[in-house]
Amino acid sequence: MKIVNSHNEWDPLEEIILGVPDFWCTPQKEPGYLPTSRTGKQSDEYIHKAALQIDNLERVLRFQCNVTVRRPDKIDFTQPVRTPFFSIEHQHGASCPRDTLLVIGNEIIESTMSSRARYFESMAYRTILNDYFEKDEDMLWTMAPKPTMSENMYNSDFPFDTNCQERKDWIQNYKYVINEAEPCFDAAEVLRLGKDLIVQQSMTANRKGIDWLRRHVKSRGYRVHEVHFPGDLNPVHIDASLVPLVPPTNERKGILVNPPDRPITKEDKDRIFTGSSWEILDAPFPNSMVVPESCESSAWLSINLLMVGPDKAIVEETEIPTINFLESLGIKCIRVPYRDSYRFGGSIHCQTSDVRRIGECHNYFP
Ligand code: ARG
Repeated sequence: MKIVNSHNEWDPLEEIILGVPDFWCTPQKEPGYLPTSRTGKQSDEYIHKAALQIDNLERVLRFQCNVTVRRPDKIDFTQPVRTPFFSIEHQHGASCPRDTLLVIGNEIIESTMSSRARYFESMAYRTILNDYFEKDEDMLWTMAPKPTMSENMYNSDFPFDTNCQERKDWIQNYKYVINEAEPCFDAAEVLRLGKDLIVQQSMTANRKGIDWLRRHVKSRGYRVHEVHFPGDLNPVHIDASLVPLVPPTNERKGILVNPPDRPITKEDKDRIFTGSSWEILDAPFPNSMVVPESCESSAWLSINLLMVGPDKAIVEETEIPTINFLESLGIKCIRVPYRDSYRFGGSIHCQTSDVRRIGECHNYFP
């Protein structure tokens, strides 16, 4: 039975993994991370509120979109971890399968991750991955090399104040909190456009990690491109920075959007997208620049949406400018309440990982 097959972000969706908010913790300070809100276990109230919205999304996917939905194991991530290289008091949570699992065609890669609190996160998906492995004889299951996450993997002098000039300078120079000691990347740094994978170098993916991926998929004809959005002073995960909204057809180019206040560099854009089937437009501004208290993402979660087919998207219901933009382009929007889930690492795209879409791997680049 064919289960794992997903080459892009828009082909008709058939199966998806949807995260869980249970046992979620805001990570404590670690070499690569300075918390901006209270650390430790998320309140039961917030977990309950998010669970209602995430469970509602599950129903929409199942009954309105006819999609098979799998949920991860509820592991107690409030527990401490001690490895030969570090110890932490508590972990993070399995709300965002997008961050951990990278689906490329028939392969699922458990990414290396980059923060200590997320070291064992992919274990929450092992029941699902084992099941896919048993049922789908073509499925490839890979775990990217686990980094040590010891002190020397991080730049201890990286400035944590997001407003200071020094930090801007680091990011302008493509230097972030992780250094090049060991390969690392979070899966959510990868945007899948068929044969071309666009990867953000960032706080959670270094050049060695991007190169690991490049070498890993090269023999199958994939190309891996590194991109940057230097106006983003906390570059973490590409899926609120470069998002496909309309797939290309024979008649017209596809549309990718990026936030106008932190656009892709001209150099990256020209080098990668010239002559391709894509144009990059400004994303519509979020409905509100205010995010829920203790949400660690930006308001650009407004574009963190899930395409369930080439002309249908699931979008957070209050993100009206995004909805209007999509509908003006002929994309139907299914509106779901999701703001209470924003404080669990992101929105609808982050909290899902599509496993099967009907379609093959195409080339949209010269
Ligand atoms: N860096 C993004 C922002 O704050 C959030 C992206 C979250 N994505 C994810 N897959 N967890 O704009």
